[in-house]
Amino acid sequence: MTNNGETMAGRERLLAAAGRKPVDTTPVWFMRQAGRCLPEYRALREKHPFLEVARTPELAVEATMMPIDRLGVDGAVLFADIMLPLDGMGVDFEIRPGVGPVIANPIRTAEDIERLRVVDPEEGTPYVLDAIALLSRTLGDRAATLGFAGAPFTLACYLVDGRPTKEYPRTKALMYGRPDLWDALMTKLTEVTARYLEGQVRNGADVVQLFDSWLGLVDPVSYRERVAPYTAAIFERLRGLAPTIHFSTGTVQLLPEIAATRPAMVSVDWRLPLDTAWDVIGPDLGIQGNLDPSMLMAPWKTVESGALDVLRRAGGRTGHIFNLGHGLHPDTDPDQLSRLVHLVHRQGP
Ligand code: CP3
Repeated sequence: MTNNGETMAGRERLLAAAGRKPVDTTPVWFMRQAGRCLPEYRALREKHPFLEVARTPELAVEATMMPIDRLGVDGAVLFADIMLPLDGMGVDFEIRPGVGPVIANPIRTAEDIERLRVVDPEEGTPYVLDAIALLSRTLGDRAATLGFAGAPFTLACYLVDGRPTKEYPRTKALMYGRPDLWDALMTKLTEVTARYLEGQVRNGADVVQLFDSWLGLVDPVSYRERVAPYTAAIFERLRGLAPTIHFSTGTVQLLPEIAATRPAMVSVDWRLPLDTAWDVIGPDLGIQGNLDPSMLMAPWKTVESGALDVLRRAGGRTGHIFNLGHGLHPDTDPDQLSRLVHLVHRQGP
């Protein structure tokens, strides 16, 4: 309950938490909630390839709405992929099932970087903007419309190494050894990403999340000098437009530096208890997290005590969105997820 004793709709609840305001109960959504753990998604994918779903607003919204209808979460993350803005930049890629993004011609030379186009999302990815607008109309107040983009570092990992690897060695070699090329690449990715997120907000995104999934590979000094300035520039562009969430995983060593890029909230994984992570980030930023997605495949009693521990550590402070530390595993049982949403909502602020 809020001060006046009313319950909030999902959108209002999530936006209140993102704005560090009181909530009736903790808002909750899950990364990768629209995806392979839902049978209705798997059925949709039997009829349409992944990129066709992502590039067709009606299909993207259909996939986005599946977990809203089934789980009762407070946020709807657009069904899309971090690779999509590269479409407009002129990069040819595919998403291989069970592998991930694969780039036809990896970006490695000054000429490759020179050729990357810096475009507005209206030109490069109009279907994402249309999908956001349709999603936000479809949702009304039920849940917040969550937009997102990949962060420049993580996009650079795919562009330079060309496919998923454990360590992204070519990307990091470019970062260490060719600061001039690295800056040129990161500057272009930063500009495209900022325009892409601004476009999503103009079209109805309530909150935007920046996914820096492979940041755990970076040391604090390199992060401060070669990555954080670009991230901070994106958050600066969005300040006053919409609350921002920084996502990464395996970045205990970087949390103070991440906080210094000034998102509204920092999404943290399970490697630190939530209260410890919040102490490091500082009281003036919100926090999202941080149940281990693997725990969802353990018996319900384990999930329940794990979730209650997260909430106890949040301690009723304003500015917490309940989430996982990373995306759901495809073989998670959706019933565990709806029980978890009920549990979080039942606990109150
Ligand atoms: O609910 C949601 O979160 C849906 C939207 C979403 C997808 N990808 C759909 C998707 C989001 C937010 C992403 C972001 C994304 N994509 C990230 C950042 C998040 C993270 O997990 O760290 C990254 C690194 C990617 C790149 C990517 N795309 C990977 C690693 C994969 C998985 C490849 C595989 O098959 O295991 C994809 C494909 C992808 N993106 C799928 C989905 C639902 C699976 C495709 C399918 O249906 O087969």
